[in-house]
Amino acid sequence: MATEAADQRVIDELERVLVNKDGKSELPFRYRALFSLNHLSQKGDKRAIDAIYNAFGDESELLKHEMAYVLGQSGLEYAIDPLTKIVEDPGQQVMVRHEAAEALGALGFTKSLPVLEKYYKNDPLAPIRETCELAIARIQWKNGLDKNNEKISPSVYDNIVDPAPPMPDTVKDVNKEIEKLKLELVDQSLPLFHRYRAMFRLRNIGTKEAIAALVEGFEDPSALFRHEIAFVFGQMVDPHSVPALIEVLENTQEVDMVRHEAAEALGGIATEECLPVLEKYSKDSVPVVAESCAVALDMIKHEQSGELEYAYIPKVSS
Ligand SMILES: [Fe+2]
Ligand SMILES: [Fe+2]
Repeated sequence: MATEAADQRVIDELERVLVNKDGKSELPFRYRALFSLNHLSQKGDKRAIDAIYNAFGDESELLKHEMAYVLGQSGLEYAIDPLTKIVEDPGQQVMVRHEAAEALGALGFTKSLPVLEKYYKNDPLAPIRETCELAIARIQWKNGLDKNNEKISPSVYDNIVDPAPPMPDTVKDVNKEIEKLKLELVDQSLPLFHRYRAMFRLRNIGTKEAIAALVEGFEDPSALFRHEIAFVFGQMVDPHSVPALIEVLENTQEVDMVRHEAAEALGGIATEECLPVLEKYSKDSVPVVAESCAVALDMIKHEQSGELEYAYIPKVSS
């Protein structure tokens, strides 16, 4: 993989594929270019941020939401401006604006608070208001003093910035802890941030009892909440969540962003029963669902090929 001082020609080529000006790059290929840019942005390369931002004129809700996610995981203050523009752009789809607001929360800088507060109070769309609520709470948590006193156990997810940190583990008996977390997860009178913290702690516990508790979250009235449950299952890649995820993907009454996340999760888990379902819904009438299934199938193909990285690495001569 290219290093921090990547050749400008590598960046240009990745941007060319991601932006797809000539219309010849298939979506999965563009995803691979995005993942390469992700590696570069994680290493602090601002040119990767610019290259990604230049692709936001695209139609694909799926690709753009992933781009916003990547910007949020970069840790770079430099990504705040482009992300703020996306949150403020009414021409972007809900899932894209949601992901941009969440990304501002993931970056965690207090200077993002005014824009998040504005859309928390005024946006007509519930998923946007709820995302802003969470992002504000995360920024306050990250910059607050409380976190220093919290004992959060390390987990395999520590290299990812979650929309809310996992709940500190205070209960000794794990089954009692799961019971307590489940009650908090489904309690709609609690702040969303608190419920998300219960969700991420259940993810980190990761047993089949924890998965059963998380499945209850699919009954929640908030589409944002349900999509996050599916997202968490995608991170866990545990076959125990497959039946619930298939049910979500097959439910054409379910909100697009929730079905999309279920499709991605099934692609990650990729047990035998996932494949025919993904094939079937790769022809779904909802573009973001069909595209999610297509990308999921491409990732499975990649997994089976034994190639090392799911990324596009342009070759440039020196
Ligand atoms: Fe999301
Ligand atoms: Fe997603």
